[in-house]
Amino acid sequence: MPLSPVSPKDLHDYCAEWSDPLGQFADNESKIAYVRQRLPALLENQLLITALLNDIKQNYGGAERRRHMLFDNEWRLHMDAKRRFSVRMYLYRPGEVTFVHDHSSWGVLGSASGEMEIVKYRRKDDGQKNGYALLEETERTTCTPGRTDTTLPLDEGIHRVGNPTDQMIVVINVYGTPLRRLYINRFDIENNRVTKIFPPRLKRKMPA
Ligand SMILES: [Fe+2]
Repeated sequence: MPLSPVSPKDLHDYCAEWSDPLGQFADNESKIAYVRQRLPALLENQLLITALLNDIKQNYGGAERRRHMLFDNEWRLHMDAKRRFSVRMYLYRPGEVTFVHDHSSWGVLGSASGEMEIVKYRRKDDGQKNGYALLEETERTTCTPGRTDTTLPLDEGIHRVGNPTDQMIVVINVYGTPLRRLYINRFDIENNRVTKIFPPRLKRKMPA
C-alpha cells in the first residue's frame, strides 16, 4: 500500500510545540539543550523530509522563502511568530562547503540525510584591526543522520559546514533570536581577512 502523503504542515506541529519552552528558558545553553533533544525526531521523519524536498523541487513558496537568505543553498522553512527561533533547510551538493563564517544567534545543526562535516575555529586576534582576523582550527565533527551539533553567536560560533561525501546531503538547522546585527562575518583563513556579508535584501538597498 502506498504511503499517504504528508503535508509540510507537519513541520509546524513540531514548531508549535517548541515555541513556549524556547520562550521560557532564560539562557542559550538551555535553549540549545532543548532543541538538541527535540530536533532528532524531525530529522528522522523521512516522510516529512521528502515532502519538504518535493516542496522545494516544485518551487512551492521557494522564491519567497529564499528572498532574505545569506547562503545560496538555504531555505527558510519556519519563522516563529514570536521570533524565538527559525528553522532552515540546506541542501549541499557533493563536496560543497560554506565559507568560514560566524552567526548572530545560537544554533543547532542537524543532518537529515548524509554526513555533514563541521569545522570550528577560534579567533586569536582581538578584533581591533579593521578587516583582519587570525583564526585557528579547534574541532572537526561529522554528523550522521539524526545527529546534531551546535553554534553560538559571534566569535564563539565561527565555523564552516560542508558535505565531504559524493551524495547530496540534507541539513536542517534551528537558530535562536538574532542579535541586533545586520550582517555576518566571512573569514578568509588563508589571508587572515574578515569581511561583512549582508543579506541580499539589504545589499540591494546599499548603493542608494
Ligand atoms: Fe553556520
